[in-house]
Amino acid sequence: MTDRSQAAPVIAIDGPSGSGKGTIAARVAERLGWRLLDSGALYRVVAWAALGRGMSLDDAERLAGMTASLVIEQDPGAIRVDGVDVTTAIREERISVGAAAVARLPEVRQALRGVQQGMRVAPGLIADGRDMGTEVFRDAELKIFLDASVEERARRRHKQLMEKGSGVSLRDLFASIQARDESDRNRAVSPLRRAPDAISIDTTKMSVEAVVAEVLKHVEARGLTAGTARGGEG
Ligand code: C5P
Repeated sequence: MTDRSQAAPVIAIDGPSGSGKGTIAARVAERLGWRLLDSGALYRVVAWAALGRGMSLDDAERLAGMTASLVIEQDPGAIRVDGVDVTTAIREERISVGAAAVARLPEVRQALRGVQQGMRVAPGLIADGRDMGTEVFRDAELKIFLDASVEERARRRHKQLMEKGSGVSLRDLFASIQARDESDRNRAVSPLRRAPDAISIDTTKMSVEAVVAEVLKHVEARGLTAGTARGGEG
């Protein structure tokens, strides 16, 4: 439970993989000078740690226990677990698949809830994920739901991975994104869905700059920038 009168403001940005959430959330956080929570990275960390320990990805009790014991530090552009920099390691495709598996377990989601809510600090938090607006920060001051066609999302992810030197084929990525969408949207706990009070933006044909501008327009309309917005073109 958060006391709304005392809590720092939150902007929740949810959507499926490849919808542009990560990039948009990071840009908006930078423009506002607010803290950034990449909640997907937390599920990736759990999968990375579990696979590294040879644990089964459906042993909910053990996974939750392990999750609670991890010391996770997230800065813009970097994430460490128990002092180890895992920023690059958690982006591997096998970890994407593992993250979607552990994210189905309510025990793991519960263990990560406090970590996420603990990041709500002044002057504000930009929270990027699947259930930021529907579960973790239901009282967020602004909720945005980003989406794009599956084809476009697979193309974006392919470009990202190619830039990192990974040779996954577009066809495989398309199938993998579809499978993850299916798992994220249909799981029993905290499925990916648009909060009724969220603003939808279809980013399929939009540039990053156009989406950032659209989000900032809503931020300003809600009076959330008072004294915190940084000017310039970023
Ligand atoms: O956003 P990203 O692709 O890094 O997230 C990895 C996986 O973590 C997602 O496919 C989803 O299953 C899970 N996730 C989640 N809830 C969040 C963020 C991510 O279930 N808030």
